Amino acid sequence: MALIAHITDLHLRPRGLACYRVSDTNMLAERAILALNGLTPRPDAVVLTGDLTDKSDPREYALARQILSRLAMPVFMIPGNHDGSADMRREMSGFPGMDGDVDGKLCYTAEIGDVRLIALDTNIPGKPNGELGTPQLNWLSDRLSDDNRPTLIALHHPPALSGIQHMDAIGLNDANALAEVIGPHKHIQRLLCGHLHRPIIAEFAGKIMTLAPSTGHQVVLDLTEDGPPMFNFEPPAYFLHHHTLQAGTVTHMAYVEAYPGPHHFFADEGVSWPGDDA
Ligand SMILES: [Fe+2]
Ligand SMILES: [Fe+2]
Repeated sequence: MALIAHITDLHLRPRGLACYRVSDTNMLAERAILALNGLTPRPDAVVLTGDLTDKSDPREYALARQILSRLAMPVFMIPGNHDGSADMRREMSGFPGMDGDVDGKLCYTAEIGDVRLIALDTNIPGKPNGELGTPQLNWLSDRLSDDNRPTLIALHHPPALSGIQHMDAIGLNDANALAEVIGPHKHIQRLLCGHLHRPIIAEFAGKIMTLAPSTGHQVVLDLTEDGPPMFNFEPPAYFLHHHTLQAGTVTHMAYVEAYPGPHHFFADEGVSWPGDDA
């Protein structure tokens, strides 16, 4: 059994500053942490698929340390294009996996309940695109061969195309090479991604890719050919990946904020409510 919360793209800024003028990403990230800590049952771990910071600024990592230390469960993070691998390794030292290093890439494995996590690094310094690189792909191939437990692979840049053109233009450069490595391995349950700031599910190399929305602002859903890069404030959300022997991995999307309800389906039929006899 394993229950894993998947959050992404916090885009933290130095305290008091907004992201892209109007997105209060620091406050929104704190709201997400509060929501995760309030979950019942409590997730075994949180996976954070990159863009933890907006500009890889030491002040942003300092805030990240403070906010993420409040989580009631371990957090496994990877760099996005807005972070830096070396910066994250240094500034987030002490968090699990931060000493992972394959040819400069911050990658590692972890165990969460009966699921194995393989955390990958797609950061290219100073570039918005992503790349795994041959040494890390070879390392991934070895890790997939040496253990056949149910496996989740986390990487910031989604390897599948979304149809949102300005985001697909800054995708994963070596997606084809990744497909060759992961294709034969049937124990891969999910690819966990970020970067697109939208909930997206797609098939890639015969696997299910789940791309979580941001805890902050979202990218506008625009499937036209030359849509401009725009963001909005659709509801921040996260995924819960629930792994059981009976059902395999089932993914639920859940919202950070509360909405009206819950209301009992059968309230008019004399059904007793929890606590009625108290
Ligand atoms: Fe992002
Ligand atoms: Fe990104």
